[in-house]
Amino acid sequence: MEASPKLNTLSVKTMQQISDPQEIQRIALSGRRAGQRIALIPTMGYLHEGHLSLMRKARQRADQVIVSIFVNPIQFGPHEDLERYPRDLVGDLAKCHSVGVDFVFTPNDAELYPKDFQTSVAVNQLSQGLCGAGRPGHFQGVTTVVAKLFNLTLPDLAFFGEKDFQQLVVIRRMVMDLNFPVTIVGVPIVREADGLAMSSRNAYLAPELRREAPLIYQALTHARQLYEQGRRYSDELLSAVRRKLEKNLSVTFAIEYIKLCRVDNLNEINGQITGPSVLLIAIRLGETRLIDNLQLNN
Ligand code: PAJ
Repeated sequence: MEASPKLNTLSVKTMQQISDPQEIQRIALSGRRAGQRIALIPTMGYLHEGHLSLMRKARQRADQVIVSIFVNPIQFGPHEDLERYPRDLVGDLAKCHSVGVDFVFTPNDAELYPKDFQTSVAVNQLSQGLCGAGRPGHFQGVTTVVAKLFNLTLPDLAFFGEKDFQQLVVIRRMVMDLNFPVTIVGVPIVREADGLAMSSRNAYLAPELRREAPLIYQALTHARQLYEQGRRYSDELLSAVRRKLEKNLSVTFAIEYIKLCRVDNLNEINGQITGPSVLLIAIRLGETRLIDNLQLNN
């Protein structure tokens, strides 16, 4: 790629799209050798404001911001939505450019998983409960691809959303256990004006489901109000969330789980809450599986 033209003192910053894993690794290596601070934001694309908030935070803290866009096949179960996962590379590139991203890494399946690929990274216990229970193998797929992305982009900092709270805790554990020299930065959930947590999968929601989807956040905030009024028992808060949903949802839904867990290790709290905790929910509205969470702080 040619250097960008310099117009007097104004230099035009270009963004580059790189598909070749070896090339992004070469770029990252030379950046590191030149003393640059690299930030990585791993994504599966179909970018929204949640993703962009990660990128803006990264832009403030790094010299080189790398976004990866890769719909990672090994984190999808056999009956999940890999084939129909929404994609919009042209729109995604424009969004990355608008927030000042330097490199967008867009590998294809064969480049990341050649035919004889046979290695995986697993965070055993943390990957079992919550979403791991309903999606066996999911987090192993996530940790494997994130480990590869770390080796390919050599980030000083990597940004993950609290939207996928369990994913964030699993990645932190992996980084500690395997001594990756990466600082993991967690970023708060970005919501639509009506409270629904932004997600690429919200695109699946038919209008009547989309209309009722904000009830998920309302049910969580209802429990937080109870907590703020001094209620400290998990049963009471969890059944309040469940009741609120059962009472107000008129579309077909199935609650996969509603749990209250410690924020640091995601151990389930049964009984009295004594420290920082998080309410986590996975629910199917129609065919669409949505997750959300809300922290309860003392
Ligand atoms: P994806 O769902 O595209 O999300 C990419 C990153 O954006 C994740 O860290 C996720 O938590 C964050 N994010 C998504 N919605 C958000 C919201 N509303 N507010 C704040 N952050 C949000 O998560 C994945 O991709 C994949 O599992 C990946 C880590 C890329 C591995 O394949």
